[in-house]
Amino acid sequence: MTFSRITGVGGYLPEKVLTNHELEAMVDTSDQWIRARTGIAKRHIALEGETTCDLALPAAQQAIEAAGIDKHDIDLIVLATTTADQIFPSTACLLQQRLDIHGCPAFDVQAVCTGFVYAMGVVDNFIRAGSSKCALVVGAETFSRIIDWNDRDTSVLFGDGAGALVLQASDEPGIISTHLHADGAYANLLHVPQGVSKGYDLVQEGGAYVEMKGNEVFKMAVRTLGRIVDETLEANQLEKSDIDWLIPHQANIRIIQATARKLNMSMDQVVVTVDEHGNTSAASVPLALDTAIRDGRIKRGEILLMEAFGGGFTWGSVLIKY
Ligand code: UT7
Repeated sequence: MTFSRITGVGGYLPEKVLTNHELEAMVDTSDQWIRARTGIAKRHIALEGETTCDLALPAAQQAIEAAGIDKHDIDLIVLATTTADQIFPSTACLLQQRLDIHGCPAFDVQAVCTGFVYAMGVVDNFIRAGSSKCALVVGAETFSRIIDWNDRDTSVLFGDGAGALVLQASDEPGIISTHLHADGAYANLLHVPQGVSKGYDLVQEGGAYVEMKGNEVFKMAVRTLGRIVDETLEANQLEKSDIDWLIPHQANIRIIQATARKLNMSMDQVVVTVDEHGNTSAASVPLALDTAIRDGRIKRGEILLMEAFGGGFTWGSVLIKY
């Protein structure tokens, strides 16, 4: 049997940091409210002109180096983003060019905050089917570009960044299972309503921005992530105590704590970066993984549960033996 094994991870955050105190000067909010309601202390924001691909490139290079592969061995690139550099080519193709590798399939996946989990599901199926032996999987966002910086409901939540990993075919696990879901019925609770086909003429004040009914999204996220945890454990006949690490999407510390409680897990077994990064959408899960592998917390042989919830709604999980 063929499994997809993580052989290298990487991450990159733009240099510019935006603190809660700086946000206090921009909208009617407070450091205290943001920390208490979200767990966020600061976030990184791309500089003017710095694109999603600019963030993806160093993350990808780091992952390739950590995997110890020749970049020409990469036979598939899947990049999850909601904030592509341009309408086309895909950011995956732009990244392929920047890495100076040519010919392998490269495409973007769009599932907002669940994008990286979706990308892992897609790539795992390529590898299991024998269509890829060495894939680069990236989650990269410049979410700050679709934020209305006058809207306190959304501007305090998001940040920019990129995470990447190399998945290689192996006889040893590897990704154990992936579970992907969506329900478009909830599109209006979390969306950017403008776009290419609908047009940008609805745009007020010159931008297309995230609109969110935060409290409703919060409640759905907690309920749905609880269910995806059960689904993942049941599908693999595992007990809660079999999971060594939870690597959650980093939207809100209170959502993360609720999922940890559901798993009877101590917060010591949960990778938390939301305090430092904010919500980086598709980049949040790979950035959290990169952080905990690099600092030595996550060790080979441990069982990891990744999960995410986002616009669509989309949600999913990946169970991994690292
Ligand atoms: O990654 C994709 C998925 N996204 C998420 O998972 C985000 C989910 N939602 C959330 O994380 C939370 O709902 C928020 C952090 C967005 C909001 O927290 P909440 O506990 O749900 O607050 P709320 O919306 O119920 O608002 C509570 C109060 C309101 O004031 P009143 O009506 O009680 O007087 C808001 O107007 O907090 C007020 N408020 C703020 N105050 C200071 C809302 N935003 C802010 C703010 N600063 N930035």
